[in-house]
Amino acid sequence: MTISLRDHEPEAPRSHVAAATRRTAYEVVFQDREPAAALRSLRPWLADGDHLIVTTPTVHALYGDALSGLPPCSRRILVLDCTEASKTLEQVEHVCRRARELGLSRSGALVSVGGGVSGDVTTVAAAWLRRGIRNVRVPTTLVGQVDAGLGYKGAVNFDGHKSYLGCFHAPAHVLVAPDFLRTLPARHLREGFSEIVKIAIVCDADLLDVVERHAEALIRTGFRTPREPGRAIVWRAAGLMLEQLAQNPYEDQSYERLVDFGHTFSPILEAASRHRLSHGEAVSVDMALTMALSAELGLVAPASRDRILALLRRLGLPVASPLLTVDLCRRALEQAALHRGGRPNLVLPADSGPARFLEAADAIGADVLARALRAVAEAPAPMRQGPLPLARPGRRAEAGGLRLAGT
Ligand SMILES: NC(=O)c1ccc[n+]([C@@H]2O[C@H](COP(=O)([O-])OP(=O)(O)OC[C@H]3O[C@@H](n4cnc5c(N)ncnc54)[C@H](O)[C@@H]3O)[C@@H](O)[C@H]2O)c1
Ligand SMILES: [Zn+2]
Repeated sequence: MTISLRDHEPEAPRSHVAAATRRTAYEVVFQDREPAAALRSLRPWLADGDHLIVTTPTVHALYGDALSGLPPCSRRILVLDCTEASKTLEQVEHVCRRARELGLSRSGALVSVGGGVSGDVTTVAAAWLRRGIRNVRVPTTLVGQVDAGLGYKGAVNFDGHKSYLGCFHAPAHVLVAPDFLRTLPARHLREGFSEIVKIAIVCDADLLDVVERHAEALIRTGFRTPREPGRAIVWRAAGLMLEQLAQNPYEDQSYERLVDFGHTFSPILEAASRHRLSHGEAVSVDMALTMALSAELGLVAPASRDRILALLRRLGLPVASPLLTVDLCRRALEQAALHRGGRPNLVLPADSGPARFLEAADAIGADVLARALRAVAEAPAPMRQGPLPLARPGRRAEAGGLRLAGT
């Protein structure tokens, strides 16, 4: 019998399946002690001397003595010029080169002591060195302590795009010591409050009330007074952030993330301003516009929008930018969709229910965007307002025919 090639079934494709999961667990430790004492709690992580500490000129000038109290010697401290404009691959290479010169082993540790920029650069370097070494973080800015220093991500800017190249690399340990905030300039404290307001709006209306009561004094006094509410705000905001991260640490469970509130228009705005607007400032402008959009869409009352605009302005944060045009907003929604599984997932707070997620960029017309931009620009001057209802997780609002998805 002859078998013609035609009769012969093509061989079924064969495959091996490789699957692996990595369990991660790390402690975020709150140390309410002065910086030198708080840093000494890191000794167990540094005992074998197989580490490199990465810090910035400002932090080194302020806390160099406290750092040199750590084992074993100053050769293991790299003072890196870390600004948003220099949050680049070159800086990552710089860290990697020093780590190689020092002969850091695979069980070695990179320790970042500084703001979110040095934290990001160090996290990426730790992820790459020998395909991943330990990363210990000591965030010394408010943004770092409630946000940038806590999670799994690190990134650098690339080709004019904000945080475009990056990694997921869980830290081995995080030390949060609010005493570092005493020396942080008011501008950077305000930026931190921008991230705190973000998480409060979408997760915790009580935290928002506490922020409204105490944030101005905390900014004025470098978190010295009122002491207890200040500590409570940092710890609560950090805890909420960690709770949100734990649900979706590698952002592969869902592209709908409440913590993306304030982070849809802000990346493109930050880049468009050539980083004259800081991250926290751009987040503030984004939150203000998004509240105005929520008001336009009937998800929040105008009074809720005005409450947030007034709070941001009282904190000395910008709520509008001439750079943020309807066109730029549209581009931001399109770029967000590329990053979030094809949907912009703009997080829209709601008065009576959890925040909603925008499913399609064209669900918000240019006219709505223009009206929201105008509402922000024309918002009344800030004044103290009593608490109003804002989105609390756990309740669902009707989307009113808009292409929005509930949480
Ligand atoms: N990886 C993430 O998940 C994540 C999340 C949020 C933000 N970020 C990134 O974080 C960056 C912003 O971080 P940032 O706001 O901390 O800014 P930053 O790192 O630029 O720090 C702000 C300034 O404060 C100085 N400084 C730091 N600690 C100080 C202290 N205790 N006293 C006095 N001065 C001090 C720094 O030297 C710097 O000049 C952005 O690049 C943002 O993209 C990352
Ligand atoms: Zn942010």
